[in-house]
Amino acid sequence: MTPYEIIARKRDGRELSAEEIQFFVRAFLAGEVKDYQMSAFLMAVFVRGMTDREVSALTRAYLETGDVMDLCDLPGLKIDKHSTGGVGDKVSILLAPLVASCGVVVPMISGRGLGHTGGTLDKLESIPGFKTRLSVQEFKKLLKDHGLAMMGQTEEIVPADKRIYALRDVTATVESIPLITASIMSKKIAEGIDGLVLDVKVGSGAFMSELNRARELARSLIRVGKEFGKQVVACLTNMDQPLGNKIGNWLEVEECLDGFHGKAPQDLMDLTYRLAAHMLVLGRKAGALEEAQEMSRAAIASGRAFQKFLELAGAQGADVSVLEKPEAYPVARFRVPLEAWKAGYLSRMHTREIGLAAVELGAGRLRAEDPVDAQAGMILFKKVGNQVQKGEPLLEIRTNKETVIEPVVQRLKNALVITEHPPVQQPLVLEEILR
Ligand code: URA
Repeated sequence: MTPYEIIARKRDGRELSAEEIQFFVRAFLAGEVKDYQMSAFLMAVFVRGMTDREVSALTRAYLETGDVMDLCDLPGLKIDKHSTGGVGDKVSILLAPLVASCGVVVPMISGRGLGHTGGTLDKLESIPGFKTRLSVQEFKKLLKDHGLAMMGQTEEIVPADKRIYALRDVTATVESIPLITASIMSKKIAEGIDGLVLDVKVGSGAFMSELNRARELARSLIRVGKEFGKQVVACLTNMDQPLGNKIGNWLEVEECLDGFHGKAPQDLMDLTYRLAAHMLVLGRKAGALEEAQEMSRAAIASGRAFQKFLELAGAQGADVSVLEKPEAYPVARFRVPLEAWKAGYLSRMHTREIGLAAVELGAGRLRAEDPVDAQAGMILFKKVGNQVQKGEPLLEIRTNKETVIEPVVQRLKNALVITEHPPVQQPLVLEEILR
């Protein structure tokens, strides 16, 4: 068995054995399979796909390159949530403390912004002092003391995914169901969880723009999760417009702070309550979704969820005073409105373009090593279906880079569609797959 033969077999649409997949992944990490060979393999998988057996073997091969956390000594079920990535998706920051405040242990390992999508880690790091680089021991201690911990992927957790993801990002092989499945599920299984709620995004701001592809992805993720003994449910949710009204690292934290006081936009609150309800049911804190949804609302209304967030942020080194008085946070130097160029209804938002505009403003990165600007981003004043008057502000951009203002305004203008008639409104939760 040589790397060449394995690539050729996949290129020709043949099924690889678990041994071949394991050999290839291991040899890549050992430096015996080169980046260009792995890139060819990834493209062959992208084009030819993989059978269920191959996807399971790839997930296992990834998993075996790192450690699996053992959380058995912590009492109770450990439940996490994972989103496949979107624009303005800040749910984790609101959701994890909420669910932990209801007694479910939440070990959350999050990622950074990727392409047009934002990442929870970048958002958390916009809070002064918030430490996301933790050792496994620190992570476990936080879970023991607070029932919640939020950190980034470490060298010990699925190193194969870290290296392979970087190649996928630059070889146009991200949007592959087998590759996404192995990438997400290996990391989640390595967390030592008992159950997982997946938020599979669908639409112009998601990696899967069509419902049937997103459904296929959700089924693949659930199938692999079950094979590894995890309880997994999936919500397919709308990403044809950004979630909430704020995009950008600190701006999104600010919107979550509103959420902790029950004052965030409706779509953000509704999705948070729904995902929380699934986590509470999986964590056996509620018998049914309706009851769990009520528990979630009560956790916000009583201030318990916010207290848990402050407790966690303090334990992870953050300056909590800024979370209590967010108005003290510095604001970007340039604030520029985009005004409606005609009257009508905002009927479409090309969400990937909006995400890329946020990246250009400084909120995301073009290369993995780029820094992000915590203050950059935008605030939406109008969402799909809203009526607009000519000259009315649709949004405000915020940046510290004067040179990007003009191209970004133009890009955003092209990303928004105003029509004479109102659009048909899409539901936020499109589908739920519970088994
Ligand atoms: N998120 C991941 O962690 N991996 C993917 O492949 C896509 C989204």
